Order: sequence, then C-alpha cells, then structure tokens
Amino acid sequence: MLNPSLPKSPQIDSSHPPLPRIAQQRLARLQARSARIGVIGLGYVGLPLSLLLSEAGFKVTGFDNDAKKVDDLEAGRSYILRILPAEIAAARQHGFSATTDFAGLSHQDAIILCVPTPLTAHREPDLSFVENTAKAAAPWIREGQLIVLESTTYPGTTEELLIPVLEMGSADGLKVQGSGAPEEQGVFYVAFSPEREDPGNVTVARRDIPKVVGGHEAIATELAATLYEGIFARAVRVSSTRVAEMTKLLENIYRCVNIALVNELKLLSLRMGVDIWEVIDAAATKPFGFQPFYPGPGLGGHCIPIDPFYLSWKAREYDFNTRFIELAGEVNEAMPAHVVQYVAKALNGHKKSMNGARILMLGMAYKKDIDDLRESPSLTAIELLREQGAQVVYNDPYFPKVGRGRHYNLNMTSTPLTDLQQYDCVLIMTDHSDYDYAAIVNESKLVVDTRNATQGIVSDKIVRC
Ligand SMILES: NC(=O)c1ccc[n+]([C@@H]2O[C@H](COP(=O)([O-])OP(=O)(O)OC[C@H]3O[C@@H](n4cnc5c(N)ncnc54)[C@H](O)[C@@H]3O)[C@@H](O)[C@H]2O)c1
Repeated sequence: MLNPSLPKSPQIDSSHPPLPRIAQQRLARLQARSARIGVIGLGYVGLPLSLLLSEAGFKVTGFDNDAKKVDDLEAGRSYILRILPAEIAAARQHGFSATTDFAGLSHQDAIILCVPTPLTAHREPDLSFVENTAKAAAPWIREGQLIVLESTTYPGTTEELLIPVLEMGSADGLKVQGSGAPEEQGVFYVAFSPEREDPGNVTVARRDIPKVVGGHEAIATELAATLYEGIFARAVRVSSTRVAEMTKLLENIYRCVNIALVNELKLLSLRMGVDIWEVIDAAATKPFGFQPFYPGPGLGGHCIPIDPFYLSWKAREYDFNTRFIELAGEVNEAMPAHVVQYVAKALNGHKKSMNGARILMLGMAYKKDIDDLRESPSLTAIELLREQGAQVVYNDPYFPKVGRGRHYNLNMTSTPLTDLQQYDCVLIMTDHSDYDYAAIVNESKLVVDTRNATQGIVSDKIVRC
C-alpha cells in the first residue's frame, strides 16, 4: 500500500487496488532516495536535472550520444556557462557519471528523457530525437522501471509515439502498465513531466518551481510525482500524459501570444510617439488582472519560438486552426526585419546609407545574461543587415565566437568594446547587465536600442525601436 505520509494523489485512493509489488519496491526506493536514476540527454535541461537529483542523494547516471559532452563530464568539465565545474565535481563524488553506452539503462529505477524537440525546415515537429532515443533505450528497459519524458511536445506524443516504440523494442516483451487492474509482472511505467525553466532567472529557486506530472495511469503518476518530490518542493499531479503535455504548451503559447501583443503595440506606439515601456511599467502597477510582458527584437530560445507550432501542427489532425498561435508567430517573426528597417531609418537621419555602414551589434544571446543563442533574433538581424550591404561585427561577453547563423555560416569573433566612434551605428540586441550603457551612448555616434537598455539616459544619439 502507499505510504500514508505521501501527499494524497488525486488518482490513487482507497478504492484503488494495492500497488503491485514491483511498483512498491520502486516507490520505496524513490522515497528513500536510494533509487538509481538515468537521465538521457545532458543538455540545458538534462545536466542541471542530473545535478539536482545527485545533490538530493539519488545515484545518477547521465546518458548522451555526444561523446564530447560525456568526456567533459567525466573529466569534471562543464560545457554550460552557468554550471560550475565544482558542481560537477560534487556530483561525481556522490556517484554521478556519464556514458554513451545505453546498456547501463537496465540498472536504473527511473529513466528521464531530456532530448531536443526542434522544428524541421518546414516548421513541423521533429520528433526524431525522441524516437531515436526511445529505440536505442527500448532493449534495455526492465520490468517495473519508470520512464519519464520531459521534452516539450504536442499532446499525444507519450502515448502515440514513446510507448509504442518502447514496447516494440523491448527485449523482454514488456508492456506499459495498462489502465485496468495493476499487473504484477511484465510491465513498465510511463509518465510525462514538462521542464519549466527560466534561464537567467535568479529570483526563483529551481526547487521552488512546481513540477507538473501526468502518468499513463495512476501508478506511473504516483511514481513520477514521488521521484520529483525528492528534488522539487511540489509535484502537481494531473490526470494524464496529455494534460501534462498540453500544460507545457499552454504556458509557452501564453508567453508567445502576449509577447506578440506587446510587440504589435510597440510598433503602434512608435508611430504615436508613445513610450511603450513606460506604458507597460504603469500598467504593471495594477495589482490584479495584468502581467507585464516586454517587447524586443524578436523571439529566441529553444521554447517560445518553437513549441507553439507543435500544437498548431497537431491541431490540423482535428481540422482546427490555432489562429492566435499563427498570428503571434507572424508578428514576432517580423520583429528582426522591423529592427533592420529602424537601423536604416536611423542611419538615414545621419545621412548614411545602410550599404557600407559599419554596425556593431551588442548581444548575440536571445536573452540577457545567458550563454544561449538558439533561435536568437540577433542571428537573423545580422543576415538581414548584411543582405543590405552593412558591415556587421558583434560583441557578446558570453560568445567569443559564433559559427552558424539561421541560414549562413557567420563564422564571427566577438569584437572588443573599444573605439566605438568607428561605427556608424551601435545596435543593442541583448541587454546584458555587464554593459555600461551610459558609456556606450557617450562614445558612440548613433545607438539603436531594441530593449530599452538605455532607459533613463537622455541623448539625441539614441533611437529606441
Ligand atoms: N533549454 C530550456 O530552457 C528548456 C526549457 C524547457 C523545456 N525544454 C525542452 O527540453 C528538451 C531538451 O532541451 P535542451 O535545451 O536540454 O536541449 P539540448 O540540445 O541542450 O540537450 C539535448 C541533449 O540530448 C542529447 N541527445 C540528442 N539525441 C540523443 C540520443 N538519441 N541519445 C542520447 N542523447 C541524445 C544531445 O546530445 C544533447 O546533449 C526539449 O524538448 C526542450 O524543448 C528546454
């Protein structure tokens, strides 16, 4: 039976049959944190998660098909800026190790999948990473194990893709625990639990972010919730994997649509001569019914520009158009072009043409104070500026070098922040805290600011857009 000290699950109640022995054993090990946890995909999500689990006392093994990452971790090196080598060393002392060999999966009590879910070139869900990982893991799945998918995806992925691939590849002919009476033998458990992260946010401790958990059935929900309660202050149990999958998409679509709204209102405010940032700050004083979102040069990161389109793609199966998502995508995707138009206009005001202009771009990261440039609007803006003949260089303390852009190999190196007079325009794309904006304005001929980073600085050299 369930430990009575556990938080009450909405799904397992007194009318539910006792937990089968194989689930009881896992549950006890998860509660005691003596369970072995395998994390597949040691990127921005999987590595911090592994360290958190290790810190809580679990025995963690990381699995990744990128041998370079595995070598780095085995040598105690970090490849993510905000994770210090000392944190990896501490985890290694607690038994953390990394490997490319999936055979070790068979020794785990629970396996968490944190692999990428990007879009294809035609902006359709690319689930090949989830599928390939499931295929590679399936032969090593053992009876009673819990498998959790954390990768962001459309509702239905866990049941329509992950479970069939695992069942088909199972060397022991295992099946997922069904919805009827709990089987004692021949089953494994599956849940979906989305990752919630706000890179660069130092105000909310990772532990205090509630973790949404939806199992394929009640036992899986309970096992997964118990696992996460070992590292998070609260697990939020929901009734199915689909609800958990959709919850993550709602959160990201909400952000995407609201950012599009303020981006559109910024375009109007610029025409009206109204400062949209001042408007947002004033509106944010309302103690109810308003949450501030801020305009910018376009969306970036691995989530907001991508995840909503997972749902719009899936919606087509139901003859349904997700109009808010499409409209938000249209507005947000037009922002880098808007920035470039403003740079041209600002240069024009200085009797300079874009063709041949020397432009210093500040910030390659999609967001301030982080070392992530995935989907960064800076990449698009560089390509658009170059198309119009501008000579673009960049500075970003987080990126000494940049290889590929969206469409071209940019192959650029960060330029020192010196002699700013040599540039026709300094373009602020990312409002990193390290920059001294007053000094930058002072030393530059012209500053185009897409982030309101120069707020409070009065100068006719600044063009906010
Ligand atoms: N980064 C974020 O802030 C964030 C936030 C919330 C949700 N997510 C979601 O989490 C998931 C992972 O994102 P991420 O940012 O950690 O990605 P990432 O690219 O940083 O890391 C993914 C890792 O998976 C590994 N990998 C890929 N295929 C593999 C395979 N077949 N076998 C083993 N390893 C494999 C890669 O080598 C890489 O190390 C995505 O679905 C993403 O949408 C990310």
